Amino acid sequence: MSHQVILDCDPGHDDAVAMLLALGSPSIDLLGVTTVAGNQTLAKVTRNALSVLALSGHAGAGVGVYPGCARPLVRELAVAEDIHGESGLDGVELPVPTAAPRDEHAVDFIVRTVMKRPPGTVTLVPTGPLTNIALAVRREPRLAGRVREVVLMGGGYQRGNTTAVAEFNIRTDPEAAHIVVNEDWPVTMVGLDLTHQALATPAVEREIAGIGSPVSDFVVGLLGFFRQAYQRQQGFADPPVHDPCTIAYLLDPGVLTTRRAPLDVELRGELTAGMTVADLRGPEPENCRSQVAVCLDRERFWSLVVSALRAL
Ligand code: RIB
Ligand code: CA
Repeated sequence: MSHQVILDCDPGHDDAVAMLLALGSPSIDLLGVTTVAGNQTLAKVTRNALSVLALSGHAGAGVGVYPGCARPLVRELAVAEDIHGESGLDGVELPVPTAAPRDEHAVDFIVRTVMKRPPGTVTLVPTGPLTNIALAVRREPRLAGRVREVVLMGGGYQRGNTTAVAEFNIRTDPEAAHIVVNEDWPVTMVGLDLTHQALATPAVEREIAGIGSPVSDFVVGLLGFFRQAYQRQQGFADPPVHDPCTIAYLLDPGVLTTRRAPLDVELRGELTAGMTVADLRGPEPENCRSQVAVCLDRERFWSLVVSALRAL
């Protein structure tokens, strides 16, 4: 099954791997990349997205990058320089972009693209703060009834990373996340519960390095920096490569298990703002438009990533 995807991202080491997974997988029709301030400023993440497209060569040619919001809806932007570095993609030499950002704002691109295609054909894959997605569905409420699904990297029903209970993408813009999870559209939350299983072990790095291409060398450079950052900042031996888990789920739904659960986002708590609250009590509800990702088939996941990198 092919998927028509808009990837809304903040590259970001793992966003870059998500882009390459999408670009190297024939069943993903990447309609466009929209960027949002998060891991770094809007200007930096937009340049980074353009660099990754340039690196991908033919696969990325013609894919537009549409800059979106430069700050969260309400709160101040706090970038993740401790994890992604000053450029947002530290650890590698960034390819010179071969295209400029498109003139159309991300929100307008998302609305125009979804509304011009048949209902149920476009999947939104946000892997950064949800600012653009929230504004798009407020700009055009009919989006909720036309989008096939929102598969987002963010949140977690057990723990956080930016605070004890809040994950970075959600904590950066809790108000946007609250809008997104409360709209009447299907939401799959690929949170830390899942993505902390997507560890780039030395064996994974060796397999990617064995491809021996400019793309795989770039990813190995990214993972090396990512590993050091996660060791230093969060005590991980191997870095969790969060964002490509969303694309992998589209490519092979069996790559992860899910559980339907009502979702919401805490806005008011002094200690809990940005916490994603999944109600996992009792039996799994039959009719629930949201689900959370639970268990990752690591081998299937990395096999998808390596195959895509080989193809580029
Ligand atoms: O908490 C991890 C998430 O925040 C990932 O999407 C990473 O790229 C950052 O955006
Ligand atoms: Ca991201």
